[in-house]
Amino acid sequence: MRYLVDCEILENYEVAPEQFRMVIRSPELAGEAKTGQFCMLAVSEGLYPFLRRPMCFERIHEDRISLLYKVEGEGTALMAKMRPGGTIAVQGPLGNGFPLDASFERHIIVAGGIGVATFPGLAEALVKECGVTPEVILAARTKHLVLCEDEFRALGCNVHIATDDGSAGEKAYAADMLARISPGPGTRVYACGPMIMMETTSAVATQAGADCLVSLEAQMACGDGACLGCVVESKRALEGEKMVRVCLDGPVFDTSIIDWEAHNTAYDVF
Ligand SMILES: Cc1cc2nc3c(=O)[nH]c(=O)nc-3n(C[C@H](O)[C@H](O)[C@H](O)COP(=O)(O)OP(=O)(O)OC[C@H]3O[C@@H](n4cnc5c(N)ncnc54)[C@H](O)[C@@H]3O)c2cc1C
Ligand code: FES
Repeated sequence: MRYLVDCEILENYEVAPEQFRMVIRSPELAGEAKTGQFCMLAVSEGLYPFLRRPMCFERIHEDRISLLYKVEGEGTALMAKMRPGGTIAVQGPLGNGFPLDASFERHIIVAGGIGVATFPGLAEALVKECGVTPEVILAARTKHLVLCEDEFRALGCNVHIATDDGSAGEKAYAADMLARISPGPGTRVYACGPMIMMETTSAVATQAGADCLVSLEAQMACGDGACLGCVVESKRALEGEKMVRVCLDGPVFDTSIIDWEAHNTAYDVF
């Protein structure tokens, strides 16, 4: 079931430069939401900005949900100014979410930048619902942008940090770090981040014989499958099935169906 509800803002604070965590109260959403799903947020009470903004669920608690977001433009800048005690209209839960499958021997989460936002909830679900503890690669441009390390460690995850400038962890990109920890058949890799990072991470995982899921990004208008504003090209043979909707068919896809060449950087936001 989907809701459009006014949620009380319980917390909204900066966790790193231009990156915020918002906690909203909604027993309805929290009761329905699954890890990997997302919601659409009305960032203003007026007509502008007109479109709701998509955000995935960072963590799902009994009566509340946390969101982790980066200020990109006007909508997220307005979100950053919202104060506890106010309300925000939220549509959701939307999308398919991550499948939870305990039969894989190894689970490796690969997060690029604010792409980490969808993963604390996944790690928690894998630990609590499947009894498996994922390894986590946190890749970011610089050490101030490495998010959620403590949350993953608190869940017992082995965390590998990679920064572009070497200011924390190893000086490496996400895909190189994945190659270093040797995924193989029996491993499931979960990736979210910039499109190029997901493409290279997918290539490493696939080459190693691992299963790989990616949580994709696209500009969205309706969030509900109707406007086709969020389509990306898949490798499906049938013309009618070629364009998949990130909002409804995703945002989580098996990497093998995505036509990476067609979409290389067109939808990059992180
Ligand atoms: C399913 C989904 C889940 C998401 N989850 C998160 C999350 O948990 N945390 C987070 O920080 N961000 C997330 N995003 C991205 C977030 O929705 C955008 O950053 C946000 O909508 C930007 O709004 P804005 O008004 O601040 O920026 P705008 O002024 O609208 O745009 C600023 C810049 O970002 C680009 N942009 C805007 N929206 C998107 C988009 N959806 N995809 C690609 N480029 C975009 C614009 O082209 C422009 O260059 C998610 C996106 C999707 C599709
Ligand atoms: S955002 Fe409208 S179809 Fe996906």
